This record gives sequence, C-alpha cells and structure tokens, in this order.
Amino acid sequence: MARIVGGVTTSHIPAIGNAMTNQLEETPYWKRFFDGYGPVKDWLADVDPDIAIVIYNDHGLNFFLDKMPSIALGCADRYENADEGWGLQTLRTFTGDAAFSWHLAESLIEQEFDITTCQEMLVDHGFIVPMALMWGHLPEWPVRGIPLAINTVQHPIPSARRMLKLGHALGKAIESYPDDLKVVIFGTGGMSHQLQGERAGIIDVEYDIECMQSVISNPEWLASQSTTEIIERAGTEGVEVIMWLAMRGALGDNAKCIHKHYHAPISNTGAGVLVLENAT
Ligand code: DHB
Ligand code: FE
Repeated sequence: MARIVGGVTTSHIPAIGNAMTNQLEETPYWKRFFDGYGPVKDWLADVDPDIAIVIYNDHGLNFFLDKMPSIALGCADRYENADEGWGLQTLRTFTGDAAFSWHLAESLIEQEFDITTCQEMLVDHGFIVPMALMWGHLPEWPVRGIPLAINTVQHPIPSARRMLKLGHALGKAIESYPDDLKVVIFGTGGMSHQLQGERAGIIDVEYDIECMQSVISNPEWLASQSTTEIIERAGTEGVEVIMWLAMRGALGDNAKCIHKHYHAPISNTGAGVLVLENAT
C-alpha cells in the first residue's frame, strides 16, 4: 500500500528561485534562509520518497481570473514549468504519475471533494520553487510530482477548515492506493505577506510563529479562522498558509515535528519551513 512518510511546508517566493539560479545561497542576505533547508534535504534523502504531492496555488499561469477552479489536481504524466512573469529561469520538466493521480481523483470525489482534473497543467513558481529548494542540486528530479492547485487568488476562496478536511480526504485517498509507494506531501506558500494595496509589505512574525505551532500540534487553531481573519493578520497573500493545513490534514494526529525554521523577511514575506514525520 502507499504510505505517507511525512509532510514539508515551505514558502515559494520567486526571489528564492532567482537566488538559486545566481548561486547567492551563501551571501549575507540569503545564508540564514537557506541554512534552514539543510535538515529538510537530509530528511528527504533519508526517507527517499517516490512521489511528492505538491499543494500550491497557481499565480495566473495555468488558470486566470476568467476560469478559476477551487481545487485542481494534475492527472498527467508530465508537467512543464513556465514563468508567469517574474523572469525566473524555466526548470526541467517534472514527471507525474497519471495512474496514481486518477486514483486520488476517484477517491477524493467519492469523499465529496469535486475537484477539477487536469490532463494538461503548467506549473509556476508556487510548485517549482519548493521543488528546486529540495532537489534543485540533483541532476534529475528524484521523485514523481503531483500538483494539487488551490485557489488562493480569486475570491471566494476555500476556507482554512475546508483545507484541513481536504487533507483528511487526501490522506485516505493516498493510503488506499495498492502499490507500495512512499509519498511526501508539500504544503507551500505563505507566510504573512501582501504584495499590493495599502498594506503592501506587512509581515506579522508573531502570527507566523503561531501558525507554525498550529500546523505542528493544533491544526484546529488555524482551521477555526475565517478567510477574513487570516487576511487581517497575514495579508492578502498570507492566506496561502491555508495550504499548509491541507498537508497537515493528510498526516496522522501524532505526526512528529523534526525540523522547524523561520526567517523574515525574504522579499516581502515571512518564510517558514517545517518537516513533520508521519507516525508509522
Ligand atoms: C512573493 C511572495 C509570493 O508568495 C509570491 O507568490 C510572489 C512574490 C514575494 O514575497 O516577493
Ligand atoms: Fe505566492
């Protein structure tokens, strides 16, 4: 049977991609941020997953405001990366696993999550920056990737509680797959940031730390907040943190935090990273 080895959360700020392309990891601005990823890479090398399910939001590359699915699952065997306007280098194509995706789609829909299924899907910085942070140093992507895109852009967006429930359903979907696969789940985006309007640039470190603790040990705290409450504290784009709850919901209640790191600011954003290992 497929087994969830654990979950990773990370911000997906495009500037991180640029820093990697230009090898700025050891420079004063970036060093402390990238130092937070060493233990994550070590853990991933240790557990050696076959599949990464990447919960992220599309930023206007694949979906635009005219057609916006709330929840969209990649059901393809390959996903091309493209740049929706940040000037990022395009990274190598990601191999998918359509058979596994269709199993997830069937199970999620059976559990009343009526997702959009995508047999063609471009992936933007929300997907590729986290992948490059984990595995960009290797000659090939060592896992197959499954994009799970959540609308955090065009209101109304799904609630934090809905994301936690999606995670529960996703966990059941994964664990009912007959093949012996090790699956890691990424909850990407966040933490506090707002890129436009009067409050552009806000970062709330205290709230970010509370969110991290909630994802580790008390998902209910974040799940009970409305979209408006989250945006008031974390900013319009800070609401991306709801995708961390979707990852959390797929893990068992007693998943163990084996790494956490926070650094602010990176670009306009509070940058947090967690590794949660699933209880076996
Ligand atoms: C930034 C953060 C994001 O989440 C994003 O999608 C784009 C830019 C930033 O802080 O620059
Ligand atoms: Fe974003």
